[in-house]
Amino acid sequence: MCGIVGYAGREESVPILLDGLYKLEYRGYDSAGVAVCRDGKLRLAKTKGYVRELDRIVDGGRLMPGSVGLGHTRWATHGRPTDSNAHPHISHGGKIAVVHNGIIENYAKLREYLTGKGFEFNSETDTEVAVNLIQHYYNKTGEILRAVASAARRMEGSYALGILCEDCPDMLIATRRESPLVLGAGDGGNYLASDVAALIKYTRDVYNLEDGEIAVLSESGVKVYNGDLEETAITLERVDWNISAAEKGGYEHFMIKEIMEQPEAFRKTVSPRVAEGRVTLDELGVSDEYIRNVSKIYIVGCGTAHYVGVAAKYNFEKYAKIPAEAIVASEFRYSGPIIDERTLVICVSQSGATADTIAAMREAKRRGARVLSIVNVVGSVIARESDWALYTWAGPEICVASTKAYSTQLAVTYLLTLYFADKRGAISPEEYESVVREISLLPGKLARVLKDKETVQYLASIYFNNEDVFFIGRNIDYALSLEGSLKLKEISYIHSDAYAAGELKHGAIALVSDGTLVVTVATYGALLEKIVSNAEEVRSRGARVLSVTTQSGAGRVEHVSDSVITVPDTHDMLLPSLGVLPLQMFAYYMALMRGCPIDKPRNLAKSVTVE
Ligand code: G6P
Repeated sequence: MCGIVGYAGREESVPILLDGLYKLEYRGYDSAGVAVCRDGKLRLAKTKGYVRELDRIVDGGRLMPGSVGLGHTRWATHGRPTDSNAHPHISHGGKIAVVHNGIIENYAKLREYLTGKGFEFNSETDTEVAVNLIQHYYNKTGEILRAVASAARRMEGSYALGILCEDCPDMLIATRRESPLVLGAGDGGNYLASDVAALIKYTRDVYNLEDGEIAVLSESGVKVYNGDLEETAITLERVDWNISAAEKGGYEHFMIKEIMEQPEAFRKTVSPRVAEGRVTLDELGVSDEYIRNVSKIYIVGCGTAHYVGVAAKYNFEKYAKIPAEAIVASEFRYSGPIIDERTLVICVSQSGATADTIAAMREAKRRGARVLSIVNVVGSVIARESDWALYTWAGPEICVASTKAYSTQLAVTYLLTLYFADKRGAISPEEYESVVREISLLPGKLARVLKDKETVQYLASIYFNNEDVFFIGRNIDYALSLEGSLKLKEISYIHSDAYAAGELKHGAIALVSDGTLVVTVATYGALLEKIVSNAEEVRSRGARVLSVTTQSGAGRVEHVSDSVITVPDTHDMLLPSLGVLPLQMFAYYMALMRGCPIDKPRNLAKSVTVE
């Protein structure tokens, strides 16, 4: 979704801002803009469409000199994607420019208030309300920081704001509530971004601005104030992501690069947490007594993160014997979940910034649950606000469609399942040992599946013209079907749905006719015969069946399948990790053959920071 970059320093700002905006393209956007302050004058350039269009308009920055500036990519919420709705927005009178991520919920009321004071508006956005509110207080006080603090107090909702003021040409100001902003301290210049990917090329020393803080960046340094404008001391954190992780490194798309990174990402996430055959999650600091007393687990997330929850639900129930429910965050927050102090809510989120997941986490805490989060972005809102956080060490995930985040989130759920199952005495020592042994073998097995990408590519070349694809599975294969179907539809735009295979007969089979493609996910040995029957049912109605199964299952599904992809055998708990790889590759190659913009699918955003 929307992205912010800012720079105040010795260098020309616009080339740095454009570079940052290119890095943020992966988040999804529909317009882009920059503003600079030079010789006491603000200058703006903005356009509907891509950053490369903006780049052309400003001739790479040559047409917009200035060493203090702001940039933005907008994902439309209030008002269509047009040049006038693009950010930055400028105040009535032209003294202040603002870029904004998030949604100002009371914008209509504030707009009415400001209109009454003589302010005129040129766009449909809530952002123009923010910039005029700041201008309103600036007119009253003549002090820009006081104006920002006063405006912040009146705005409801979520926002991250970057602010320039003509009267303070050396300063870049920032403030936030609920929407992330990170400051980067460099040599001879300082940086602002909504996402660390935009600034790691320039500095690794960062500070995550807290809710309600106001930052002032200039060439000489970074100062941070609380809402009462008292200066607060900050400690910079060092980011250890390497730059190549945010670049394609020879691959055609981030998606295939990130698919290929999964064995290593899995290893990095798991190996520090397994020693001498035992899962050690002491980093969590959850007491054994708490674990023994947990009576219910809700696993909450959105999109792919939710589907991790669906797989984890089966494993928590089967191995740790704890009732578990996977629920999408946007439903959980409004469903009035029944929660007490023995309820554990697990929030799964790559970004740690998804608005609905944040709201669900807060709702869970308000109702008295303890919250454990599984998060990739260090220092993100969800990681900071939950009672316990376990990081997935996947590195930056750039492609909108999630792949390595899914694999590493799954990995963490395996560790949690084992840890809880063991502490509750719900798993036999033999089974515990065999899962841990298999976990250590998984990176090698994942690499083997990925080596066979040509087979998947070949199958995609047979099936890429299908316009309807169904995915069916049972138990953990149902969880995989949901993810396989999501991957396919989001990047290839092929209509696709996933069903618990037993449900097919209750409706969806009416849609199966000659040539319909049904992907049968059949890795779970215990229910293989059942899914074979379902495959027979669709085949006898003309469907073509592509089965994903294990080596030991292949013999049992071949006779009902037009094509078969096999993955190595492993312990049942871990099957989703292997089964998902061909599904991800299948979606990728289908989209490739259809000429889709794989890394940035239409209408989608990497980080959904609005409800
Ligand atoms: C968006 C992304 C998905 C992601 C979901 C949840 O829809 O496009 O790839 O799975 O948000 O994001 P999170 O950062 O919370 O995992």
